[in-house]
Amino acid sequence: MNPVYRKRIILGVTGSIAAYKAVEIASTLTKMGALIDVILSAGGEKFVTPLTFRSVTGRAACTNESLWTSEDHIPHITLGHTADCAVVAPASANAMADIALGKGDTLLPLTILASDCPLLIAPAMDGHMYQNPATQANIETIRRRGGIFIGPEYGRFASGMTGLGRFSEPEKVVGAIRYQLSRSSDLRGKKIVITAGGTREALDPVRFLTNRSSGKQGFALAQAALDRGADVTLITTVEALPEPYGAAVQKVDSAKEMLAAVLENLPGADALIMCAAVADFRPRAVAAQKIKKTGESLTVELEATQDVLLEVAKIRGRYPGLKIVAGFAAESEDLLVNAEKKMNRKRLDLIVANDISAKDRGMGADDNAATILFADGSRKEIPLMKKDALAAEVIEAIAGKLR
Ligand code: CTP
Repeated sequence: MNPVYRKRIILGVTGSIAAYKAVEIASTLTKMGALIDVILSAGGEKFVTPLTFRSVTGRAACTNESLWTSEDHIPHITLGHTADCAVVAPASANAMADIALGKGDTLLPLTILASDCPLLIAPAMDGHMYQNPATQANIETIRRRGGIFIGPEYGRFASGMTGLGRFSEPEKVVGAIRYQLSRSSDLRGKKIVITAGGTREALDPVRFLTNRSSGKQGFALAQAALDRGADVTLITTVEALPEPYGAAVQKVDSAKEMLAAVLENLPGADALIMCAAVADFRPRAVAAQKIKKTGESLTVELEATQDVLLEVAKIRGRYPGLKIVAGFAAESEDLLVNAEKKMNRKRLDLIVANDISAKDRGMGADDNAATILFADGSRKEIPLMKKDALAAEVIEAIAGKLR
């Protein structure tokens, strides 16, 4: 279950050309099961209509007029008291000034005054307006009272100029809301280190050896752990996937770098999940210059890399807080027998065994099926499902042992 499911979220939409992006935010959150109550400011209403939001959320969108026309005689109190979270996205300079001043002459700041839930603000304005001391003072005031800011970002404005003040992408705003609403879940305060993606072993300055791992399963695990309230460190080689909001992401390249990053993160960790496809071999020598096309063939000598999990097993005694060390076994034959051998050899608490011989699952695919083997001999079958659903199952198996 994602943390926004059945949560009531106030989405304040204020005067900015980025207001149309709030439609995507409302739509995404609604599809995730959230109940979105949109409040449009007078400026917001000029850019997008209440009907647009009603169409994507299935719920009435409020405007200032609603204060006098709503069937509810106190819409600001009802909305404010029942919300799990209030988000102003995009937030204009004027909206932030109203909130900082605690004004109550329009519905959005009035509702925020009446609420006692977390407040998230995603500013959107021209760079000079954003840098203006008046705006900065308002931001400081809101932040001091516990307001959480999303962005803004550097980029191009409607004026054609560039600077700091651009609205964050809807995906990031949704990620921030999801993260905020997960913070009190059952794995709160637990630190989980997760690795993802295939390592890259350099051959020369332009070439490397790697494998077909996309990193999707590891990223899904990171999101599933975040959704349960954990603090997640994601050690990865992957550039192409969006970073799960709230994860501390550490980029690495080779097996050697991945080992160093894992060891660096062990102190304080409650769990390590090695989902990465770490290279077992690397070129013995890395050519300083690009290897030229001479002759009919090229022989590259490979040497073994260090096994991250075996290295962790050697020093695990130093980290009594490390309750779970989990591995993945990607096998093309004798799945369970090989996985069990790996679990024992690497002294794991559990191993997620997945068959990589089928095209519809595993490496690179969006779906996966697996058997979780536990050190006590028990097993859990996970049928073919989306990688994010499978990730939730793996985190569930780990959560029981971490709580
Ligand atoms: N692993 C690791 N360090 C390596 C290689 C693998 O920590 N150098 C971890 C993987 O992240 C995974 C587990 O070990 O969690 C099993 O990886 P896998 O590639 O399936 O097995 P190998 O140990 O490499 O054995 P083989 O290649 O013979 O199947």
